[in-house]
Amino acid sequence: MNYLLVLIISYFIGTISGSYIIGKLFLDKDIRNYGSGNAGTTNAMRVLGKKAGVLTFAIDFFKGVAVTYIIGKIFGTNFVPLGILGAVIGHDFPFYMNFRGGKGVATTLGALALFNFPLTLICYIVWVLGTILTKIVSVGSILFFISIIIVYTFMSQLSISNIILVIIIALIGIIRHKENIKRIIAGNENKIGGRK
Ligand code: G3P
Repeated sequence: MNYLLVLIISYFIGTISGSYIIGKLFLDKDIRNYGSGNAGTTNAMRVLGKKAGVLTFAIDFFKGVAVTYIIGKIFGTNFVPLGILGAVIGHDFPFYMNFRGGKGVATTLGALALFNFPLTLICYIVWVLGTILTKIVSVGSILFFISIIIVYTFMSQLSISNIILVIIIALIGIIRHKENIKRIIAGNENKIGGRK
């Protein structure tokens, strides 16, 4: 029963979509009709501007932090990875957006940062380096998710079931980048500062 409750609470918190809310509320735009069509920080920066991008990141990041905090407080740390999974599903597939949301990078980062700061810092550095070196945010994001799998599998003290949950969270993030992967392979993925 607790498992279901954790998933439901986290899912609903996860559905608070920064880019969608800011786009609709302040600019009367559905972010998903512009740029890459993704409801996330990168696309908000791209089509809604820098301020909207920063605000989107803050909302998506801190809802992840909130899920880790709330689930940890109510149900205990052992339930946090399941909560993060719920939040990512909520962010990626929000019910009020016809289940077309984002890719879960900022939310995963925020949630894991409070869960295990040192390990998540490593993954964050991978994201920064991957993004800066290639000038492609999605490359950084995919490497971020891959590093989560490696770092949390080999360096965390989590139970096997929680490691599996973290791996599932990261795999969802990678799968959500499938259109980006196609564009990267084709050589026409959006670059930072490139065409919109
Ligand atoms: O955070 C999502 C990022 O990795 C890619 O975003 O808009 O270029 O698909 P986008």
